[in-house]
Amino acid sequence: MSKATDGRWPHILSPFALGALELPNRTVVAPMTRISADPEGVPTAQMAAHYSEFARGGFGLIITEGTYTDLAQSQGYRDQPGIVTPAQVEGWRQVVESVHDAGGRIVLQLMHAGALVQDNRFTDETIAPSAVQPAGEMAARYYGKGPFRMPREMSRDEIKAVVASHETAAAHAIEAGFDGVEIHGANGYLPVQFLTPETNTRTDEYGGSLENRLRFHLEVMAAVVRGVAGRGLAGMRLSQSRSSDFNHKWSGGIEDARTIFTELTRTGADFLHISTHQGLSEEFSSGHTLAGLAREFSGIPVIACGKLEVPENAEQILETGEADLVAMARGALADPYWPRKLACGEDPVSFDPEMISPFATLDITIAWRAENGVTFKE
Ligand SMILES: Cc1cc2nc3c(=O)[nH]c(=O)nc-3n(C[C@H](O)[C@H](O)[C@H](O)COP(=O)(O)O)c2cc1C
Repeated sequence: MSKATDGRWPHILSPFALGALELPNRTVVAPMTRISADPEGVPTAQMAAHYSEFARGGFGLIITEGTYTDLAQSQGYRDQPGIVTPAQVEGWRQVVESVHDAGGRIVLQLMHAGALVQDNRFTDETIAPSAVQPAGEMAARYYGKGPFRMPREMSRDEIKAVVASHETAAAHAIEAGFDGVEIHGANGYLPVQFLTPETNTRTDEYGGSLENRLRFHLEVMAAVVRGVAGRGLAGMRLSQSRSSDFNHKWSGGIEDARTIFTELTRTGADFLHISTHQGLSEEFSSGHTLAGLAREFSGIPVIACGKLEVPENAEQILETGEADLVAMARGALADPYWPRKLACGEDPVSFDPEMISPFATLDITIAWRAENGVTFKE
């Protein structure tokens, strides 16, 4: 890294110890669904090349796309990868090895779609805390069309089974060589369906008060901590916004934030990852961003995400102590060499929606990068 630019972006380019993982800088690739696994949900050689390119580009940490956790209702998208069958674990091992060989570090994101299933090869039935049809329409860029199905209410035994499947999935991730596991507790998927009063009308211990609505998050987090068993990191991604409602806020405001962040930390989480539309926005008139509140209430490392591919934004959120690490999705997709370019004073390529249109597949992104000459010269 050149001395001149090290001076310009001292926080972004400084190393950080995330648990036992030594990161060379503060940049993280945010999770991005790429619907490019094989039809059996097995990660491919193309995915290994995709993820290892971020490592060659200098990202401190890579978080994978949301990956399903069981052979029942968790799969949400066609050609989404899973971490359940031996072939899926072996496919991920190839991805992890190519990232490690390129000098990177990689965490698997676990995802249960709940009521937001668009395509599931195991069943036509969707499940959720309550039989409430999701708002909004399926995403066309993941091959979806029209309204979501009406889900069936999960029994308490089914909730226990889904929690247990997260423990097994986390153990599989460690077996595949991952440096850790992140639970997708954001953007409207199953944990958010439990947390949100509109989609959770249960009257048992999983519904009603915040303590009850948060129970699923806490049980899943504890299960993943058990599955990882000290052999890697365990964390959770959270957001207030949902794919159907970008402006959604937790009903109890800052007090909900305090409870959510402190309780999750008690389960043994190593980090929290806060996803917002604008990472730098102030939340609840608190003088802090949501990531900053997570950091203050939890006391554990926090990754912030949301328009942080603008280097000034990333430097500011780190410098002001609102976050420990900065994740970027679209910025990383547009330019997998973002950190190395920043370090030597080159401008990274900007995101263009065409690179995930009409579908968010790797084929389409790779073709776009080739046409637009996205490379890095040593
Ligand atoms: C193509 C695409 C796929 C995404 N898939 C996921 C996903 O699998 N899991 C997740 O937590 N967020 C997912 N997201 C959300 C991003 O991780 C991120 O929160 C959002 O794009 C805002 O960050 P940005 O401003 O850096 O793009 C996805 C975003 C994009 C553009």
